[in-house]
Amino acid sequence: MSKIDLTNVGFETLMIHAGQSPDKESGALATPIYQTSTFCFETVEEGQGKFAKTIPGFVYSRSGNPTNRALEMKIAALEGGEDAVATASGMGAIGAVMVAFLKTGDHVVCGDCVYGGTSVVMRTNLAQFGIDASFVDTSDAAAVEAAIKPNTKLLYFETPTNPLMVVTDIKKMAAITRAKGIKLVVDNTFAPPPLQFPLKLGADLVVHSVTKYLNGHGDVLGGLVVGSKADIALVRGNGVTKICGTPPSPHSSFLVLRGMKTLSLRVRQHCNNAMAFAQYLAGNKYIKKVYYPGLAGHPQHELAKEQMNGYYTGMVAFEVDAINGLSSYDAGIKLLNTLTIPSIAVSLGDPDTLIQHPASMTHASVPKEAREAASISDGLIRMSVGLENVEDLIADFDRAFASM
Ligand SMILES: Cc1ncc(COP(=O)(O)O)c(C=O)c1O
Repeated sequence: MSKIDLTNVGFETLMIHAGQSPDKESGALATPIYQTSTFCFETVEEGQGKFAKTIPGFVYSRSGNPTNRALEMKIAALEGGEDAVATASGMGAIGAVMVAFLKTGDHVVCGDCVYGGTSVVMRTNLAQFGIDASFVDTSDAAAVEAAIKPNTKLLYFETPTNPLMVVTDIKKMAAITRAKGIKLVVDNTFAPPPLQFPLKLGADLVVHSVTKYLNGHGDVLGGLVVGSKADIALVRGNGVTKICGTPPSPHSSFLVLRGMKTLSLRVRQHCNNAMAFAQYLAGNKYIKKVYYPGLAGHPQHELAKEQMNGYYTGMVAFEVDAINGLSSYDAGIKLLNTLTIPSIAVSLGDPDTLIQHPASMTHASVPKEAREAASISDGLIRMSVGLENVEDLIADFDRAFASM
């Protein structure tokens, strides 16, 4: 075991050491990839004890694996949760939470601007099981209170939202859900630690698409759920291990553990680049609107400053104006096709800048009326600002605009 006492250390020390210690057998510093489906017992009695959980240890990798466990313990420490469970993707994490806490006849209040896949699960897949969902702007506390029904079991939102960067006051939402006995679930994918800590602000559960900033290298799919021991036992038992059967592969967890050793450095640099880029867009004559919580004109700028600890995500969204006879929509498409540094791709949080068109890509599966109700216009462009030199990125945009 690690000799380090992690009770009172700073975020960066936790980031390096939490959940991980040199391998007991070999002394290996990096947590080994326990690439095994099953675990052997010396005796039947040991197996019985491990199944009954009277003896700690692992029995089968669907319910637990040492490499996956290291990742779970690291994120639990970083988010300030008691426990965590790792999944094969962000949607695996979200689905496992739904399965663990909802049953036929229940109702969910969901943010009206969430990742397209989440929106479809809430609108279509939950309805298959007789679970109803309402969609509201969760930056409006009165709208949230009005949407809550006697059978509401869960309030779910992203902050900042994908793709419009709307910021919700987590503390305020937690006061509402606590008073009504509703679980508060926050998707923290756009603002991972050390930016934002929803559990410390009163949320019951945090979900992540690990695919994004937590892994940070664009080479893994993964998800995580963090919360209390009791809640995570339900998510692991009912969701991940049984109905969904969606643990990550140990190899994926190994890569995420490696990625997370530089989490704060990467995330802060993404934010610094995004801030510089958003300021550039805000002063650009070809841009109609910029969505970035770091800009003073953003409707929740002051809340974001406090809640996100002085940083504002690496994600920026914007709309291009009509240029030289091209409509705003066509100018946006031409811009994407002309840029050379950003790759046209969905996903986010990679070292590479990724740019995409939500209406036809990440949010294409959301009905047009629902997109419009959430102000996701057909001209909106979303960019995950990467770790390239931001001056090069700005020069690339200048070149592209000049050619239009
Ligand atoms: C905010 C957010 N949550 C969840 C997901 C789903 O994650 P995954 O693609 O890892 O399943 C995404 C995917 O883009 C996302 O942007």
